Amino acid sequence: MFASIGVYPKLSCGLLSACMKDSQELEISTDSLEAVTSVNRFVDELLGVGNNAQVILKAVEADPACAIANAQVAAFYLFFGKSEALTLATPYLEAAKENLAQANEREKLFVSAIEAWANRDLQQAIAFHEIIGDRYPRDLASVHICQYHQRNIGNSQGLLQIAEKVFSANQENPYMYGILAFGLEECHHLAEAEAAARKAVEMKRHNPWAHHAVAHVLETQGRLEEGIAWMESFADTWENTNLAFYTHLWWHTALYHLDADNFHQVVEIYDQHIWGRGEKDSAREQINAISLLLRLELRGVDVGSRWQEIAAYLYPRLHEHAIAFLDLQYIYALVRAGKDDWATQMLESIQDYATRALPYTRKTWQEVALPAAKGMIAHAQGDWQMAIAQLEPVLPELYSTGGSHAQRDLFEQVYLDALIHASKYHKAVNILEKRHAARNNIPLIQRQLANAYTQLKASTSS
Ligand SMILES: [Fe+2]
Repeated sequence: MFASIGVYPKLSCGLLSACMKDSQELEISTDSLEAVTSVNRFVDELLGVGNNAQVILKAVEADPACAIANAQVAAFYLFFGKSEALTLATPYLEAAKENLAQANEREKLFVSAIEAWANRDLQQAIAFHEIIGDRYPRDLASVHICQYHQRNIGNSQGLLQIAEKVFSANQENPYMYGILAFGLEECHHLAEAEAAARKAVEMKRHNPWAHHAVAHVLETQGRLEEGIAWMESFADTWENTNLAFYTHLWWHTALYHLDADNFHQVVEIYDQHIWGRGEKDSAREQINAISLLLRLELRGVDVGSRWQEIAAYLYPRLHEHAIAFLDLQYIYALVRAGKDDWATQMLESIQDYATRALPYTRKTWQEVALPAAKGMIAHAQGDWQMAIAQLEPVLPELYSTGGSHAQRDLFEQVYLDALIHASKYHKAVNILEKRHAARNNIPLIQRQLANAYTQLKASTSS
């Protein structure tokens, strides 16, 4: 939207250096119209989760001294989720820092935020994005990145607060409503989230971030038929969506089918739209695939050789430790693929990383991610007692490893499965009753609950 119609360059907005304004009236320190046009397109791609975010490279080609364009290229690579992301981002981050002298305050804050991200200090990065939000609320690219970090450190309130902070300055922007909706959803304000996301889609139909926010609401509320209809009605707009996010949208669609016991459709979606549709070395594609395979297996579906196909791409992840939530799933896939030696290497690497992670995240790695990783390995190996022992104490803390509610529900499902296998029916019933109260129309939960009560009755009468 903004890329094509919203370039309003204004020269000389500062006294000492050339600058122009982007489509949001934010000053950019450059005298290159082409650089500004590319920045506008990049922001549009970012907020629209498009597949052409690499357009930001053109901004740097047009003006190699533009600090914020360089920082945005670095952000583009860091977002990418490839194992070599940092290597690709670093030269652009360095170029951004070398050109700070002619940058304005917002640009300096943005460069600092991206540098903190590259250093894995998400807390620091968020602090810079919060200042940008206070002083330059029209900078929605900054808000988008801030929300990404908030999600990765498990701060739902932060997700919502940054959206609310900038809302009044962006009420004409359809992307704003999707940003707000996801924050509302993660804070369990489901009705408001759905209303905001539907408003976003009314304003702009091709708005996958808003499609996604509604998908979360419908999943949480067990509105399966509505969910399938909603997602399928917008699937035609996803062809130009970022491939990793494309797989995530289909992952959400598959969840409704999974909950409805339509396993054939789930496998079909997996094969057609998830694994191999995008880039197999993308972290997000890998996670969508792993998460779906695991959920299928928890329902007794034979997934064939699909674990092995993923595992071949996981070797570069063994020592990465970007986000704990991701590691817990990588390590599970390694075991299920028969790569126990890689899983052992990864566990040792997590153990080592947990001692040297940044202070704000060390507790999560040491006290949550490490036992959870042991629990996931144990479940993948069929060691139910060990899985229960490792997962049970950390379940309430798993939010701090990152991911959304819908994604992290996987860990409760794994724990529940271990309880059932280990005939711990009292504990299983406690969880199942809560799951049933939240969504009373899910056949699997109904079957598991009925079976658990039958088993309990049998054990007390014998
Ligand atoms: Fe999602």
